[in-house]
Amino acid sequence: MKISVIGTGYVGLVTGVCFADLGHKVICVDIDSERVNKINSGVPPIYEENLKGILEKNIKENRIQATTSLKNAIMNSEISFISVGTPSGLLDYIDLKYIDEVCKDIGKIIKDKKEYHLVVVKSTVIPGTTEHSVLPILERYSGKKVGKDFGVAMNPEFLREGKAIQDFLNPDRIILGCIDERSEILLRELYSYFDSPILNTNPRTAEMIKYSTNSFLVTKISFINEIGNICKQLGIDVYEVAKGLGMDSRVSPNFLNAGLGFGGSCFPKDVKALVGKAKEVYYHPIVLNAALELNETQPLRMIELLERKIKSLKDVNVIILGLAFKPGTNDMREAPSIKIIQHLLNLGAHVHVTDPAALDEAKKIFSGKNNLKFYTSAKEAVKQGKYILIVTEWEEFKTEELYRGKVVIDGRKIEEAKIAFDYEGVCW
Ligand code: NAD
Ligand code: UGA
Repeated sequence: MKISVIGTGYVGLVTGVCFADLGHKVICVDIDSERVNKINSGVPPIYEENLKGILEKNIKENRIQATTSLKNAIMNSEISFISVGTPSGLLDYIDLKYIDEVCKDIGKIIKDKKEYHLVVVKSTVIPGTTEHSVLPILERYSGKKVGKDFGVAMNPEFLREGKAIQDFLNPDRIILGCIDERSEILLRELYSYFDSPILNTNPRTAEMIKYSTNSFLVTKISFINEIGNICKQLGIDVYEVAKGLGMDSRVSPNFLNAGLGFGGSCFPKDVKALVGKAKEVYYHPIVLNAALELNETQPLRMIELLERKIKSLKDVNVIILGLAFKPGTNDMREAPSIKIIQHLLNLGAHVHVTDPAALDEAKKIFSGKNNLKFYTSAKEAVKQGKYILIVTEWEEFKTEELYRGKVVIDGRKIEEAKIAFDYEGVCW
C-alpha cells in the first residue's frame, strides 16, 4: 500500500519506518525541514532502539522518504496517518491546534484528488474529536462527503518510548474506530500482517480506550507509590509486596514498580486532558485527580530523605544519576529529574548530573543555571561528591563501583547500589 504519515515524532516516524519495513511505500511529512533532512539522510531525529538501522535499510531499498510537502504526500498515497502532537493547552485541556491545522490542509488537498483517500487519526485525541472536529473540517475544506469520496478512522497508538519499534510491531491489540465501511476494509488489510487481535468500534470509543489505558496505568503507578510510601514508614520493602500482589492474576505483575512516579510526554498530559474533558461535562474525577496529585510530590520524597541525613543542602555536592523520564530515551518531558534538580538548586546545593542519552535535552532545559554541572559518564559524575540520587534506572548505573563508600538515595531500586556505605530507597 502507499502510506503517508503526517508528523514525524516518536509515533509518526516509528509508524512510517515499521510500515516501510513491512513492504509498504511510505512518505513521511513534517513542517520541520531539519527533521525531514535528517530522516532522508538516515539519521533519526529521536533516540530509539533499532530505529537507525531500519530507517537506513528502507531508505536504501527506496521504501521511505520524508518531505515538507503535504500535497506531494497526499497525492501519492492512499492512506494518511495523522501523528502530530496534541499537547496540553490552557488549564491542561487538550490543545488540538496541530490536528485542526493539518485537517484543514488535507481537506484542501483532497478537494483536487480524484481517488478515495483514507485519513486515520493516530494522535491521542479527546473522545469526540474525530467525529466532531476532524470529520467536519475535512468535509468543509474538501467540499466532499465522508464514506463516498474519502474515509475517516481513529486508530490509537500504544507504543512505549524506548521500546517503540517492538511495541508497534507486536501490539496487545489493534483498535480501529472507523466511520465508514471502506476505511475498515483498508485498515484490516493493512494490519493483516500483524498477529494481534483487532477490535473495531466507533471513533469516540477508540479515543476513550486510549485515554482509559493511560489513566489506568497512571493510577496503578500512583497506587503502588502510595503503598510504597506507607511501606517505608513501616520498614517493609514494597518490591516484595508488589511481587506477592502481582501474583494475583487480576492484578498482574506489570507496572508495579514503585519509586519516583511517572513522567513522559503523554501520561501527565493525557490524564490532565481527560480530567479537563470530564469537567466540561460536569463530572469531577476523584481517582484521576488523586493519581496526579500523588505524582506531583513523589519525586521530592528523595530530597526529604536526604535532608534527614544532612541538616542543610547549601553548598553540598549532590550527584544525580539519570535525567530522562525513563531509560532508553533522551526524552525529558515531565521527567521527575527536572523537579528534583530545580528543588536542589533552590536549596543551594551544587548539582552534578549525568545521563547516557539526555544531556543535550537537559542543557536546553537548564541553560544558564549556576551550580549545575553536566558529565558524560557516571564514573566522572560520582567523583564530585558523596551524596548520590538515582533518578533513572539506566543499565549504565547498575555497577557497584559507582556506589562504594557513598550515601545513596535510590528512586528506582538498583540492586548494585545497596553496596553503598549508606543506602536508602524512596519506598523501601
Ligand atoms: P512529537 O511532538 O514527538 O512529534 C510531533 C511532530 O509533528 C513534530 O515533528 C512536529 O514538527 C510535527 N508537526 C506538527 N504540525 C505538523 C503539520 N501541520 N504537518 C506536519 N507535521 C507537523 O509527538 P509524538 O510524541 O510523536 O506524539 C504524537 C501523538 O501521538 C500525540 O498525540 C501523542 O499523545 C501520541 N502518542 C505518543 C506516544 C509516545 O510515546 N510519544 C505514544 C502513543 C501516542
Ligand atoms: C506510555 C504507555 O506505556 C504507552 O502504552 C503509551 O502509548 C504512551 O505512554 C503514550 O501514550 O505516550 P511511555 O510514556 O513511553 O509509554 O513510558 P512507560 O514505560 O509507560 O513509562 C512512563 C513513566 O511511568 C516513566 O516515567 C516510568 O518511570 C514510570 N513507571 C512505569 C513507573 O514509575 N512505574 C512502573 O511500574 C512503570
